[in-house]
Amino acid sequence: MAFSFATDIRPLFRDEDIECMTPIGIALDDPAWMCVPENAQSVYGVVADGSMPPGEPWSADRVSLFKSWMDAGCPA
Ligand code: HEM
Repeated sequence: MAFSFATDIRPLFRDEDIECMTPIGIALDDPAWMCVPENAQSVYGVVADGSMPPGEPWSADRVSLFKSWMDAGCPA
C-alpha cells in the first residue's frame, strides 16, 4: 500500500491538536516539518506511549497506521 501524508496522516490530527502544538514548534499539519523522519519519530513516540493527545490516547490501529507511514519513509 502506498502512503501519503496528505491522505493518511494529516486527517489523524484534530484542530485542537494543531492549535496546541503549533505554538510550541510541533507542526502537525505541515508536511515540510512532519516528513522529516526525526520529527515524525518524536510524534510517534508520544502517540505510541499514549501521552499525546493528553487524556485521549490513539487506538492501536491509528498508532500502527502512523508507524506504517514512517516505515514507508514519511512520504509527503
Ligand atoms: C495527536 C496529537 C498530539 C501530538 C502528536 C502531540 C505531540 C507532542 C510532542 C511530540 C510533544 C513534545 C514532547 C517532549 O518533548 O517530550 C508535545 C508536548 C506537549 N503537548 Fe502535545 N501533541 C498532541 C496533542 C496535544 C494537545 C491536544 C494538547 C493540548 C491540550 C497538547 C499539549 C502539549 C503540551 C502542553 C506539551 C508540552 C509539555 C509536555 O511535554 O507535556 N498536545 N506534544
